[in-house]
Amino acid sequence: MDTQAFLKQRLICVAVIDQAEDGVPLMEALLSGGLEVIEVTFRTAGAAEAIRRIRQSLPAAHVGAGTLLTADQVKQAIDAGAQFGVSPGLSEGVLKAAHEHRFPLFPGVITPTEVMRALDLGAKQLKFFPAEAAGGVNMLKSLAGPFGHTGVRFVPTGGITAANLPNYLAIPQVAAVGGSWMAERKLVAEKNWSKITSLTAEAMHVIAQAK
Ligand code: 3PG
Repeated sequence: MDTQAFLKQRLICVAVIDQAEDGVPLMEALLSGGLEVIEVTFRTAGAAEAIRRIRQSLPAAHVGAGTLLTADQVKQAIDAGAQFGVSPGLSEGVLKAAHEHRFPLFPGVITPTEVMRALDLGAKQLKFFPAEAAGGVNMLKSLAGPFGHTGVRFVPTGGITAANLPNYLAIPQVAAVGGSWMAERKLVAEKNWSKITSLTAEAMHVIAQAK
């Protein structure tokens, strides 16, 4: 799919879903808050099934699969109907599997060497992870400098909240930001959909102000 379509929203909700049946109500809560983009992490047994259910029930959603660590998980994500993939690091096997299936995949990087390796492998849309722990906005600005002319774009993720979101969005090379703060695992497990909708609406408001 065209990654620009969902990157337009500039926010990806990173979700850990313990019960596959929570996928659809969670996505409905995000949509009610104005967000169409979710990354369902492959950290739970029900992740692929959650993706399958969201794709079947909610065509307005853009559904990604996260924490893809192996080529096999890339295939599982595609089979489940995921429209994009995210990996915490840079694996040649994962990228190769994604390229073979023309599956948009955001590999994770944190250093200039990793950005260069990603460019060598043909990846230009990169997750910057773990964003805050690695030095946050200052680190990302320094990292983006030498790569501005290459067309590389970053999706910082890790420790981002509504409070520091605008600082990331102000960096020209930032395509979108990822985070779990609007749908933390506990909120999902508690089925606190109204709280998730209000945190999502707050995030979307911050993004609208930042434009
Ligand atoms: C990820 O999986 O990309 C990150 O763990 C999300 O980070 P956060 O929970 O700090 O938003």
